[in-house]
Amino acid sequence: MSIDGRSFAAGQAFLLSCKTYWTRVVYPAVREEYQAGRNLEESVLYQYYCWLERHLQRFKYSGRYGLQPYHAQQRQRLEQELRDAEVELAAKPEYPDYYTRIDIHQHPGGVWSDPIAGFVYERGARSTTPLAGGRHRDLHDRLTEAALEICSKPSRVLDMGCGFGKSTRPFYETLKDAEVEGVDLSAPCLRLAARDAAAAGAKRVRFRQMDCARTDYADASFDLVTSTMLLHEMPPEVVERTLAEAHRVLRPGAAMVHLDFLPGDDPFERLIHFGHSKRNNEPFMEPLARMDLPALLKKLGFRDIRIEPFEEADGVLEPGYRSWRFPWTVISARR
Ligand SMILES: C[S@@+](CC[C@H](N)C(=O)[O-])C[C@H]1O[C@@H](n2cnc3c(N)ncnc32)[C@H](O)[C@@H]1O
Repeated sequence: MSIDGRSFAAGQAFLLSCKTYWTRVVYPAVREEYQAGRNLEESVLYQYYCWLERHLQRFKYSGRYGLQPYHAQQRQRLEQELRDAEVELAAKPEYPDYYTRIDIHQHPGGVWSDPIAGFVYERGARSTTPLAGGRHRDLHDRLTEAALEICSKPSRVLDMGCGFGKSTRPFYETLKDAEVEGVDLSAPCLRLAARDAAAAGAKRVRFRQMDCARTDYADASFDLVTSTMLLHEMPPEVVERTLAEAHRVLRPGAAMVHLDFLPGDDPFERLIHFGHSKRNNEPFMEPLARMDLPALLKKLGFRDIRIEPFEEADGVLEPGYRSWRFPWTVISARR
């Protein structure tokens, strides 16, 4: 059965409302139960919370009004839209095992296997964090601002795991004279990133298909290396190789700034975050949170290491903030 545009938009808006309810109402209620000493394994409310977390995402991608079937109906047109995208693809892409083994965040086929996966991911990303800022792009704009406070005028920037270019965009829009490189393993995402950058008139940005744990860039060739939501998608040994690669390609004194998820010591926050990792097919969130990043960065030769909470929207770090949010964290250091 085909899905018309209005029904699709209504279906996705409904899912977003459900997710907002989960974020603002169900999550704080589960926290209250936990704080009252209730064993959550026996709590129906907690089961409801977990069920909604898993299945709203599943419906969003694969349900009756899901992103995947809706976009698949328009496959021909969407593939055509990407035909002229100027992107440098690997002749024989080699995907690491961890990357292809699972459908990351329940995206059927992951973000790499279907030529239209970039469109599906782009549309899905709009409702990942319902309260994160008034605009869809706030998070990335804020990270760019934070990165440019650490490294004020970079002339060469590398965005590792750039996806469909959402994290790269504020850099190439803000730094008109800089050369900005976005690398990712996903060809469909890179094509979409390149199409959008060309439409925005960006001249000094390139998108290239590459494993960011082993790029072909020269030693000491960047002033700033950044990533957004990359590290938690990698097993610890790949995180280590990626950070070592960042160190190699940075000029001495240059900085790297990564935005990712690291829960604090609060047991409830950790329970919820590690559960999300399982329920949403993000198996490396927990291993990342358990890594000793300061020790690793020190071992790799970094200095000025800072690991700090990131305020993705006004007020979310205030003590009274009660809604669900990811434990956004900025990891920065200098070579
Ligand atoms: C959650 S997405 C984030 C995309 C983008 N940075 C953003 O903020 O929208 C993570 C990205 O990392 C990419 N990725 C995962 N492992 C990678 C690797 N080893 N090398 C390059 N990209 C990788 C995925 O293909 C995906 O596009």
